[in-house]
Amino acid sequence: MDIRVQDRCGGDIDAQVILHPEGKPPVLPDKLVQSVIASGESTGKFLQSVVLRQGPKTIKTLLMGLGNLSDLTQDRLRQAMGRAATHLRDIGVAKFAVTVPYPFFPRVGVGRLAQTMTEGMQLSLYRLLAYKTNKTDKEEYKSVKTCIFVEPNAAKCRLIQAGISRGECIAEGVSDIRTLCNRPSNTVTPTYLAQEAKKIADRFGIRLTVLEREDVRKLGMGGFLGVAQGTCEPPKFIVLEYRPARTMGRATAKRGPVVLVGKSVTFDSGGISLKPPENMEQMKYDMSGGATVLATLKVAAALELPIDLVGILPATDNMPSGSAIHPGDVVTTLSGKTVEVVNTDAEGRLCLADALTYAARYKPVAIIDLATLTGACVISLGHHAMALFSNNARLTTQLKQASDESGERVWELPLWEDYLKQVQSDIADLKNSGGRPAGSITAAIFLKQFVNVPWVHFDIAGTAWNTDSNHPYLTKGSTGIGLRLLIAYLTAEAKGRNRSRR
Ligand code: BES
Ligand code: ZN
Ligand code: MN
Repeated sequence: MDIRVQDRCGGDIDAQVILHPEGKPPVLPDKLVQSVIASGESTGKFLQSVVLRQGPKTIKTLLMGLGNLSDLTQDRLRQAMGRAATHLRDIGVAKFAVTVPYPFFPRVGVGRLAQTMTEGMQLSLYRLLAYKTNKTDKEEYKSVKTCIFVEPNAAKCRLIQAGISRGECIAEGVSDIRTLCNRPSNTVTPTYLAQEAKKIADRFGIRLTVLEREDVRKLGMGGFLGVAQGTCEPPKFIVLEYRPARTMGRATAKRGPVVLVGKSVTFDSGGISLKPPENMEQMKYDMSGGATVLATLKVAAALELPIDLVGILPATDNMPSGSAIHPGDVVTTLSGKTVEVVNTDAEGRLCLADALTYAARYKPVAIIDLATLTGACVISLGHHAMALFSNNARLTTQLKQASDESGERVWELPLWEDYLKQVQSDIADLKNSGGRPAGSITAAIFLKQFVNVPWVHFDIAGTAWNTDSNHPYLTKGSTGIGLRLLIAYLTAEAKGRNRSRR
């Protein structure tokens, strides 16, 4: 959908959206709208949508409930606009108008609100049709083409336009993640991920290195290699290095980059510790972390964020075969630490251990990893928050701020040393499973053994995939989680850096 801002509406729209807070009806000249509100048909209850048709050819009005103003958040606005866009699509609207409801958000800039609204609309309209051959399936989703933000004030117009552009860029990045994760593993192989990385690298002048199985062997990444040894699909250890063109360079370079690491298991069968068949098909999204890292680099480059960034994707399938790693095998990781592989289904941490060690090469100011790491994370936090683990209070605070700003929820879990015992091995330095108690924490404390700089680990196992077909802006399947938060963090971090240089 095309989104733009105009100083007036123009006569050629099919619909207008009116955002209606509960208990505070919008003041409007329109008699019909007024009467509908007066009759109590539209109460403004959150996500309630009432459509008014004024005769067959005139403009439809969608009254979209915002809920109580005291409960209003930017995410609620995002949700309301998501619901509005899909509703208008479903009733065949091609072009509609809306205004930014800045009077309801006295502390948020108008551009920021336009960004949020743009995200909500674009994310809700996402659909992957690449594997559908039926024409009607495809046509059903064509309809809504244009959204006009109406704003008479020229200065506000410019801010809104900037917000739209940023929102579009972010929504496109999230859609890229969704598509990478929704596509099956017979499309999205490690090789495919490397090709996608190449496209992004070429387009934005990002440096790309792809290490093959032999390279990884020579380096001594026994963890990653152990996971990859059961599959015929060539593993790829993908590294992207982004340096902003507007070289605010020297100062940021001196401080070292932020390194993003994403779990990139293109299919997790469990290996010899094979998973049960139920829902195994979903394990195509075990590369969600990697997809988020890739798309975040793309969006950071597109927005020309003045900050050095590195993205690392250790990409491989996890498969059982005659050559697959056995439970009980011991591997030597890049760090030199040995790991007893007691469960081949705890493969993510083996890949990440080596990627985190590799990340240290860049002398980073921070390492942030995202991984669909543990089923236990789904048990503890469900689908509404990612688990956050860290060895650094300052970085934690910064990422929690980015979480608040982006609406992507995080919840911190502890990394007390007591948990370490669960992943200590009788035969090696560590073992890769700590059993059932506190499964997300023991996975995270395992990772912690491989970092010695400020680090945050996000377990996104519960938030990367959505099964709720009724969500206002998430579609079924991949959610594209993490990018909005990371971009919020990187934007703030880049600003902070440039300020501290002055
Ligand atoms: N990719 C899975 C975790 C997962 C489960 C993600 C469900 C999304 C939804 C991971 O590799 C895994 O299998 N973890 C094991 C670890 C255990 C063997 C210690 C798990 O959580 O069961
Ligand atoms: Zn996995
Ligand atoms: Mn697994």
